[in-house]
Amino acid sequence: MKQLIAANWKMNGMPEWASKVEELHKLASDTPCELLICPPHPLIAALCQASHNTVVHIGGQDCSPDAAGAHTGETDAALLRAMGCAYVIIGHSERRAGGETDEVVQRKAVRAIEIGLRPIICVGESLDQREAGRAETVVKDQLTASLPELGGFDIAYEPIWAIGTGKTATPQDIAEMHQAIYKAVGNGSRILYGGSVKPANAEIILATEHVGGALVGGASLNMESFAQIAHASQGAG
Ligand code: PGA
Repeated sequence: MKQLIAANWKMNGMPEWASKVEELHKLASDTPCELLICPPHPLIAALCQASHNTVVHIGGQDCSPDAAGAHTGETDAALLRAMGCAYVIIGHSERRAGGETDEVVQRKAVRAIEIGLRPIICVGESLDQREAGRAETVVKDQLTASLPELGGFDIAYEPIWAIGTGKTATPQDIAEMHQAIYKAVGNGSRILYGGSVKPANAEIILATEHVGGALVGGASLNMESFAQIAHASQGAG
């Protein structure tokens, strides 16, 4: 599978940001990886439209575990799919911090797969857990409890202490954790790394064994820096 370089715009973006899709296409269509932008949900329609005739895929940042119905404020995976999304991020630590459990993450992933989306399921330990030597156990427990039995998903390993902090895990930390995740999930899933990925560190991260791509927050808001990360991709991952 090609490496997946995914932008998580989080709660950033305005209608005019739809033009960034074309901008990214121009800057990065010659890269060997797959490109994905996950904007805030109200921008999905505009970005999906802008992505026609480009190499850029569009995805959601979350979806409901339930089918359409009385769930105020939620987004149906089937709606994301119908709008033209290919992917959805699930279980990001910023959502888990709001109370999202492994069980809910698993239900969301199952729903997304059934509907034809490819979920990117996020896992990762806190700083306390890493310092206590429990990083691998915590991540394995999250995988056991939140992965669906069906195939057809990718994983994003995002150490919480590296998200938006400018700190990245060392290449050795990344290699060890990705190896452990790979052992647990096999080769049907790409294992993305996330947490302060930027042009300056992308090459070494993306060259690490079992790194199948990157989930990029802050550095994905600027298409030039996001494209530079894509250019650091190794192709297969
Ligand atoms: P960051 O965010 O690149 O800003 O650290 C990554 C993420 O939370 O997905």
